[in-house]
Amino acid sequence: MKIKNTSQHFGILTKLFHWLIAISIIALIWLGWYMVDLTYYDKWYNRSLDWHKSLGMLVLGAALLKIGWQLYSPIPNTLSNLKKWERLSANIVHMSLLTMMILLPVTGYLISTSNGQPVNVFNWFDIPALISKNKELRDLAIELHYYMSYATAILILGHVGAALKHQVFNKDGTLLRMLWR
Ligand code: HEM
Repeated sequence: MKIKNTSQHFGILTKLFHWLIAISIIALIWLGWYMVDLTYYDKWYNRSLDWHKSLGMLVLGAALLKIGWQLYSPIPNTLSNLKKWERLSANIVHMSLLTMMILLPVTGYLISTSNGQPVNVFNWFDIPALISKNKELRDLAIELHYYMSYATAILILGHVGAALKHQVFNKDGTLLRMLWR
């Protein structure tokens, strides 16, 4: 298996980024929805938020590296059996997912740092706040973060559904080529 992408195959680095970020984002959405229902007295109240923020910051780093890598080593063309509208929708969904990999953590960062405090990542290091206390920005970031989490969940459902449909019904190897082919 090659490290770089070719016009037909995903390279190992793109696959690693894809699955690391995919699992993390699905976990983050689940954790985000779970933790907002907890009360202050729940023992997971602080811990779940700390994990959510820390993992979110690591996803931001991974997404920036992934996009950088993709600019250097472009991903393969979509499979040739796709109809024109399938190709177009696959590209739109992939672009939207890439955008959400950045915007979700950035709005999360803005919520966390809008009180002027840094974000601590798993007690390993701090990411400093770039803004001072700002109530309007905090409210906007909360709203965007909330709606974008739902939008991302819908995009993921469509994306996974299409990958499985192509693999199982069309038998065109879509899923396999993101795994080991
Ligand atoms: C269990 C969940 C997932 C499955 C089964 C899956 C499957 C796949 C497959 C098979 C492809 C290759 C499509 C092609 O051949 O053109 C792909 C590409 C892609 N997937 Fe996923 N995916 C999953 C989750 C996610 C998540 C959560 C994200 C982002 C939040 C994501 C973002 C992308 C992107 C951006 C691409 C385009 C290629 C790239 O930039 O690496 N996927 N996915």
